[in-house]
Amino acid sequence: MVDMSTSLSGATFPNPVMTASGCAAAGRELGQFLDVAMLGAVVTKSIMLAPRSGRPTPRMAETPSGMLNSIGLQGPGIDAFLERDLGWLVDAGARAVVSIAGGSVADYAALAERLPGSAGVSAIEVNISCPNVESRGEVFACDPVAAAAVLAAVRSAADPAVPVFAKLSPDVTDIVAVAVSCAEAGADGLTLINTLLGMAIDPISMRPALAGTTGGLSGPAIRPVAVRAIWQVHRALPAVPIMGVGGVRTGLDALELVLAGAAAVQVGTAIFGDPSAPVRVLAELESALAERGFAKFTDAIGFAHRAGG
Ligand SMILES: Cc1cc2nc3c(=O)[nH]c(=O)nc-3n(C[C@H](O)[C@H](O)[C@H](O)COP(=O)(O)O)c2cc1C
Repeated sequence: MVDMSTSLSGATFPNPVMTASGCAAAGRELGQFLDVAMLGAVVTKSIMLAPRSGRPTPRMAETPSGMLNSIGLQGPGIDAFLERDLGWLVDAGARAVVSIAGGSVADYAALAERLPGSAGVSAIEVNISCPNVESRGEVFACDPVAAAAVLAAVRSAADPAVPVFAKLSPDVTDIVAVAVSCAEAGADGLTLINTLLGMAIDPISMRPALAGTTGGLSGPAIRPVAVRAIWQVHRALPAVPIMGVGGVRTGLDALELVLAGAAAVQVGTAIFGDPSAPVRVLAELESALAERGFAKFTDAIGFAHRAGG
């Protein structure tokens, strides 16, 4: 069979398939459907310093080949997360990639400081698709300078042994510029992509379908955007590991992101319809690699870029 292990800036994983942030809470909910230790990692819902209740309902709407959500960053806050959730993941034998989110550079640094090193945190994923309260609510991920400030602060506050990934937004003109800026600021890797900003209007009520008006578009509809972003960033920064995410439902979908340059793949929206999707995607990806003659998963990373590939 195929050697499915992968390594991301010093963090090693038995396989490259992970849950996407916000689509499996902190992993415990998935425990009844699958053994979370079978996954490469569980990426936890973005955690903030204080508990939050998220945005008003309705906050999900179906769209062609996807969905819109305006959940907001609902969560228990870092203290409860460390007490309850991280311990559960460690006891279950899972590897945790902890996603953090904040409204200021100082928030992100304080969160990174709180996360323990070796004890169960394989990597930190920095969700920078958040409004910067110190800059008229401009989203960090849409400004290379603000994104770099967050990544520099997190890199210096976090345990040096834990790799730090910047999760980028596709809602920018030049995603490579943001990626380069984050890498130069100290990000050890990148996660591509977060949701695209979208909106739906209910023709019956003739009002916005989401109480929050706009929401994040996810699911199969956005996969070509993810493939394009991964392709462009891998081409510009071939040494920087990428976790690919966006519209993965099958092993072949995951393979597409890997061939574009992803060293790991996260499964998000697909989990809502099929909670065991990540383990199925893993099995399908392994078969697809074997069928194509790959002995090692890592040989397929960025394969579509190679001449004659
Ligand atoms: C309901 C929902 C909640 C999400 N919450 C978060 C979050 O807290 N932090 C984050 O970085 N991304 C969040 N995302 C984005 C996903 O992690 C992922 O980047 C995006 O949905 C694209 O992948 P998919 O098409 O496989 O869902 C969320 C997505 C959904 C659908």
